[in-house]
Amino acid sequence: MLKLRNVSKKYRGAERYAVQDLDLHVRHGEIFGFLGPNGAGKTTTIKMIVGLLRADQGSVTVNGFDVEKQPIEAKRSIGFVPDNPDLYQKLTGLEYLNLIGDAFQVEQSLRAERIQYYLEMFEMSHALGDLIQSYSHGMQQKLALTGALLHEPELFILDEPMVGLDPKSAHFFRELMRAHVEKGNTVFFSTHVLEVAEKICDRVGIIHNGKLIACGTIDELRKDSEQVNDTLEKLFLELTEEDDSIG
Ligand SMILES: Nc1ncnc2c1ncn2[C@@H]1O[C@H](COP(=O)(O)OP(=O)(O)O)[C@@H](O)[C@H]1O
Ligand SMILES: [Mg+2]
Repeated sequence: MLKLRNVSKKYRGAERYAVQDLDLHVRHGEIFGFLGPNGAGKTTTIKMIVGLLRADQGSVTVNGFDVEKQPIEAKRSIGFVPDNPDLYQKLTGLEYLNLIGDAFQVEQSLRAERIQYYLEMFEMSHALGDLIQSYSHGMQQKLALTGALLHEPELFILDEPMVGLDPKSAHFFRELMRAHVEKGNTVFFSTHVLEVAEKICDRVGIIHNGKLIACGTIDELRKDSEQVNDTLEKLFLELTEEDDSIG
């Protein structure tokens, strides 16, 4: 579904690579957690997947489409929620969702149905007619989530989605991700909150200093670390420390 081959990125003026020689294959129908400490390269990787940043080297394909050579086709398969959604503050929630619905050519009745479904779930139907500038951070995040799901994307990508969600919304949100893959879609999200990943992911990849240092199911990673009952947090610390001592 999502394939990164040998992807590297160095920001202008930077000494080291933000992402280096990254190979990653996210399978159809799974929830994949992209884990790593702050500054590891998660956001940079995601920006290259969704076409906000060009890789220096390597290739990214989504649903078989190369994101640089076939950007429209690739983007059609993607729903993306950035870590800090920057929405048009002067639109109402409904105007925003209609803008997204138009861009992705979501048919009117389907659009209305999905808007109702998500906004009821997030308990924010009442705010649909208000300007986005009056929304709290969490409400803007929920609106961004709804917008990203409006065309039922085959690949749902989220950068640090749990930040800013209250516990109830976070719970719905986990169910929402599960429901999305059960419909035959794929979810890829980054997080530094390990409990979230442990609860919900089918597989995880751990990135550290721009390099993928582990990838697999939590059980597989546990086996690799030879400490059978490790929590993900212990594993994570262990793996990222090891890498420090080498590098
Ligand atoms: N726009 C930018 N310009 C220069 N360096 C950047 C930029 N964005 C991120 N970086 C650097 O790239 C590395 C990876 O950052 P990022 O991808 O944001 O990590 P993460 O999302 O895992 O916290 C960090 O060292 C960060 O300082
Ligand atoms: Mg980030």
